[in-house]
Amino acid sequence: MHKIAVLGSNGQLGRAICKRVKESGNLIALSRADFDLRQEFTSRLEEIQFDLLINCAAFNNTVAAEESFEEANRVNGYAVKELAQSCQKRGATFVHVSSDYVFDGRKGSSYVEEDLINPLSKYGKSKALGEQFAKQECERHYIFRTASLFGEGTNNFVQKILRSRDNLEIVDDIVMSPTSAESLAGWILEVCDKSAPYGIYHAVNDGAVSWYHFAQEICRLANKEISISAKKSDRNIERPKNSSLDVKKLKSVVGEIPDWKKSLRGYLE
Ligand SMILES: NC(=O)c1ccc[n+]([C@@H]2O[C@H](COP(=O)([O-])OP(=O)(O)OC[C@H]3O[C@@H](n4cnc5c(N)ncnc54)[C@H](OP(=O)(O)O)[C@@H]3O)[C@@H](O)[C@H]2O)c1
Repeated sequence: MHKIAVLGSNGQLGRAICKRVKESGNLIALSRADFDLRQEFTSRLEEIQFDLLINCAAFNNTVAAEESFEEANRVNGYAVKELAQSCQKRGATFVHVSSDYVFDGRKGSSYVEEDLINPLSKYGKSKALGEQFAKQECERHYIFRTASLFGEGTNNFVQKILRSRDNLEIVDDIVMSPTSAESLAGWILEVCDKSAPYGIYHAVNDGAVSWYHFAQEICRLANKEISISAKKSDRNIERPKNSSLDVKKLKSVVGEIPDWKKSLRGYLE
């Protein structure tokens, strides 16, 4: 049985993974208070016994990353190098979570794992650096690229829509795959449990939608009556216009993957 250390245990994905692993008694939950990835931590990590490390911690604010690129690169890039090296040294498996923002969104169809990356934003560049280090520094690595998560613990897009009282303007020129943090947690643990081949996996709910249509569906399912109008995205930060990810590879390991509407319904219930 794996001894599983989960970094970023207070985040959406971290919580979902910890909830699943907790009952087995094999969980080591590590929050920012235990390990701040902005600082050197390798020697302290070496004191902890685990054979699987799942890194759910990240500098996730795409807007702030434009101003604080150095910090984003440290947390999403150079800290990942230390984590991967530490796993390699002890023969542990390293799971790292990445983002659809490593792509430029210009392909015109869903991205497969082998497609060339070309991040547009500083956040995307920092996540690409993390991927590079995870691959380079640890033989036993899994990289899960995900997108637009909704889960417990963070003020995510779904929560923002549910809380809003005013009429909203939401971008309709960006298409992505909304993904349940609960589902993602299950896929990650299943891939590790089944000792599937190491490498990159695209891990999102099936289907893709614009933020505008996503917001409309949230309101429809929650019987919330506010007016939502479509707007164009902010030109100050370049984001991929269509970052939908192909999940065939993940399906070959975990079977059927629910579409985002089904997972959203489950989340709202
Ligand atoms: N959320 C999305 O829409 C999305 C989309 C694509 C990819 N991803 C990726 O999916 C993964 C999980 O995302 P999530 O939505 O679960 O993120 P989240 O809810 O924002 O949680 C991130 C966690 O990282 C921790 N953290 C931030 N800076 C840290 C630092 N310097 N040292 C240690 N811990 C730090 C945070 O700690 P505190 O709780 O103390 O702040 C938080 O618990 C991340 O790799 C993210 O990049 C997410």
